Amino acid sequence: MSIQTTISATTQPSAGLHLPEGFLWGAATASYQIEGAAAADGRTTSIWDTFSHTPGKVQGGDTGDVADDHYNRYREDVALMKELGLQAYRFSIAWPRITPQVTAHGLGPVNEAGLDFYSRLLDELLEAGISPAATLYHWDLPQALEDAGGWPERATAERFAEYAGLVAARLGDRIGTFITLNEPWCSSYLGYGSGVHAPGRTDHAAVLAAVHHLNLGHGLAAAAIRAERPEATIGLTLNLAWVRPQTEAPADVAAAERVDGLQNRVFLDPVLRGSYPQDIVEATASVSDWSFVKDGDLDLIHQPLDVLGVNYYSPTVVRAYDGVGEREEADGHGASSASPWPACGDIEFPQQPGPYTDMGWSIDARGMTELLVRMHREHPGLELMVTENGAAFPDVVGPDGTIDDTDRIAYLRDHIEAVSDAVAAGAPVRGYYVWSLLDNFEWGYGYSKRFGVVHVDYDTQQRTPKASARWYRDLVRAHAG
Ligand code: FCB
Repeated sequence: MSIQTTISATTQPSAGLHLPEGFLWGAATASYQIEGAAAADGRTTSIWDTFSHTPGKVQGGDTGDVADDHYNRYREDVALMKELGLQAYRFSIAWPRITPQVTAHGLGPVNEAGLDFYSRLLDELLEAGISPAATLYHWDLPQALEDAGGWPERATAERFAEYAGLVAARLGDRIGTFITLNEPWCSSYLGYGSGVHAPGRTDHAAVLAAVHHLNLGHGLAAAAIRAERPEATIGLTLNLAWVRPQTEAPADVAAAERVDGLQNRVFLDPVLRGSYPQDIVEATASVSDWSFVKDGDLDLIHQPLDVLGVNYYSPTVVRAYDGVGEREEADGHGASSASPWPACGDIEFPQQPGPYTDMGWSIDARGMTELLVRMHREHPGLELMVTENGAAFPDVVGPDGTIDDTDRIAYLRDHIEAVSDAVAAGAPVRGYYVWSLLDNFEWGYGYSKRFGVVHVDYDTQQRTPKASARWYRDLVRAHAG
C-alpha cells in the first residue's frame, strides 16, 4: 500500500488553519548540509569534514565538500526563496568560517572573508523581504575543539559563547532571530553515544558531559548575544520527542518517563527551570557522577528564552526490556552497535507502525500537536516556533523533469494542520519552517535521502521546485498574516 493512499494526499492548500496574526512561514537549511566550498576563503576543518572523510562513516562515502554549492549560489537560492513566497529563512553559520584558528584557549583571529559571506547572504535576504533566523551551531564544530576534547569539555562551551558574541556584534544588526544550538540531543547522543554522527565517539559518560556543556554553551551564548544586541530574539532548537509507552504496564510507563527525561527534560529543565531532572541524575548514576556541573552553572544556563524552537519528525514508542531475546532498538538514526542512550539497557525502542518516510521514520502528525500543547501547558508564556518539520521520500523525476511529490505534500499538510490544532488549543506558535528548502547532505545518509521542497541535481547543481514547493507557496499565499 503506498503512502499516498494511506494518508490521503491532496494537492490543495489546507483550508481553515487557525494560526495567529503575523505567523511566519519559512524554510530551513544548515551550513554543512548545503554550502560546500569546504576549503574556500579560509574555512578550516569541522568535525563533519573529518567524519565524512573517514571511510565507512557516511553512506556512499559522501561528504559536504561540494554539497549544494550554496556558498557560490546563494544569490540564486535567495531568488528562489523569493519566488516561492517564503517570509523567513533559517540557516546556520559555520563556526570554522568565522574563527578558523580557534583552540580550547581562545577564538584566534576573525576571518573577515567568512563573515563577509554571511553578511552578503543577510543583505540578499533582507533585500528580498525575507526575515533571517540564524542558527549559530548546527553541528559543524571546529575540529581543533574536538581534538581538545569537544563538547564533553567546558572550554568548548566557553569558546562557543565568545563566537556567539562575535557574530552578534558583527552581523546582529541584520539577524532578527538567533538560535544558539540546533538539536543538542543529536550533538551529544549521536555524536558521543552511538557514534553515527561526528565526531563518532561511543562513550556514555561523554554523552552526559556533552549534554551539560551544550546547555552551558547555550546559556553563555544567550547572555553574550543579549549583551551585544538587547533587542534580539534568542532561541534554542530542540528535537523534542513525543514519547509513549507501548502499553500502560507500569514498567513501560517508567521506561517512557526515563526516555522523556533523557531526550526532553535534560535540556528543557536546566534552560527553563534552572535545574536538572533528579530522576535522570539518579538513573544515570552508574554512568556519571555529574561532577561536571559546577556551582553557578545552572544559573548561567537558565537565561530568559524568547522562543523555543521545536523540531518534530516522528513519534517515539518505548517499552521495558525483559531480557528475553535480542533487545530491539529501532531508533531510525543510523546503524550502530552502540546505543545512543545512557542507562537504557533495560529499555527497548520497537519498530513502529507505518506509514514511513524514506528514513524509515513512522509518520504520525499527532506528535506535533502533543508536543506543542505540552510545552504550552508546562511552560506557559513560552513562545514556540516549529524550526524544522519535513520528510524524505524517494522522489522520482518525471520524463518532463517535474517531481510530483504528493507524499511530501500530504506529510506537510497533515503536520501543518497539527500545528494549527495546537494553536487552537492555546499554544503560542509563531511560525513554521519546512525542512528543507533544498535536497542536501543528510548527515550519515549522505545524499541518499531527499528532504527538499526543491530538487537538486548533484551533477549539474540545477534546482527544480517540486510540486511540494508550489503547494507550500500557495499555502503561504493563502494564509500569510
Ligand atoms: C534534523 C536535523 C537536520 C536534518 C533533519 C532531517 O535532526 O536538524 O539537519 O538532518 O533532521
